[in-house]
Amino acid sequence: MKKFKIAVLANLKKNAPHWDGMPEDQWDDLDSEKTINAIQEALRSNGHSSEFFEGDLTLMTELPKYKPDICFNICEGHFGDSREAQIPALLEMLRIPYTGSRLFTLALALDKPMTKRILWWHELPTPAFQEFDRADEPLNDDLRFPLFVKPSREGTSMGVSAKSVVHTEEELREQVSFIIQKYKQPALVETYIDGREVTVGMVGNLVGPVARRMPLNPKAPRVQAGLYFLPPMEVDLKPYEITDAVYSNRLKVALAEQLDYLCPAPIPEELVDELNWLAAAVFRVMGAYDCARVDFRLNVNENWKPYILEINPLPGLSPDISDLVIEGRADGTSHTELVNMILEAALKRYGMIE
Ligand SMILES: Nc1ncnc2c1ncn2[C@@H]1O[C@H](COP(=O)(O)OP(=O)(O)O)[C@@H](O)[C@H]1O
Ligand SMILES: [Mg+2]
Repeated sequence: MKKFKIAVLANLKKNAPHWDGMPEDQWDDLDSEKTINAIQEALRSNGHSSEFFEGDLTLMTELPKYKPDICFNICEGHFGDSREAQIPALLEMLRIPYTGSRLFTLALALDKPMTKRILWWHELPTPAFQEFDRADEPLNDDLRFPLFVKPSREGTSMGVSAKSVVHTEEELREQVSFIIQKYKQPALVETYIDGREVTVGMVGNLVGPVARRMPLNPKAPRVQAGLYFLPPMEVDLKPYEITDAVYSNRLKVALAEQLDYLCPAPIPEELVDELNWLAAAVFRVMGAYDCARVDFRLNVNENWKPYILEINPLPGLSPDISDLVIEGRADGTSHTELVNMILEAALKRYGMIE
């Protein structure tokens, strides 16, 4: 394959700004040097050259000096409602190609209520919801307790704990006001989906519209409509039912290494097919590129009916603990292969390789 000069762009946790009164989980979704090194090693092992750059304004002068053919972008950004879209905006102004979703998709996916409005319009199953700018807004009639409260524009379950499940008007108001004040953004209130926690990762790009049911291709069962579906992963939350109830920030950050990740998730083949179809439909309606992960809850009270929680167009690529990487491993796809698959999807999309 042709060899390329690749700038790896990310926001390292250790370079992030700090201030008094900052939420303790503020930078939980930023990356470690270990992740960056693993990505660079993966690219180099395929013969590409690569250099790391912190995703900030210095790119405006540094990238034209380095002259990359393409950027491997995993920048989460620091500030602003559309922070994941900021570096891609800069790259488009500099006319440098980048891996992963375009800036519009990144901005949209970071905003969970906006994403849900799109899913709702397409009749894709997502919990009923309401966005609260203020804690005293009247609750919509279609929302019934128990409800779930989370920040509108965060990741890594920031602001998510057992307290996110609210059973009374009083608990609801308290949690909404806590989220608005702590994270300085609207709170998203949804129907609480009691059940199992499953996530589906995919790499590639859609080659045409998503059919209502994607035809199975017996020659390549994992590739459908141009997307390579990794096996779904379930996080076994049973041991934490009482302490956390859901996939909380505590579990994702402090206890990540000791959780039970079931991959492939022990679910029937038809349900895997359904999840893949839904994930592809979300990928399609959000205009995602190259790779993404879609998070679901399976409702225990509706025969495990899947509900879409969100799409992550910048899924974590930590070689040890990221969901996408665990899914790859379960399928015999190494971290190195996964990184190069994402790169290849982007190179093809830009017409830089066949
Ligand atoms: N409506 C809901 N019902 C039940 N659990 C939920 C709901 N929304 C979120 N959760 C729980 O909170 C976790 C984080 O929510 P998610 O929307 O995926 O945000 P993040 O971007 O932080 O991953 C989910 O993995 C799930 O365990
Ligand atoms: Mg999630």
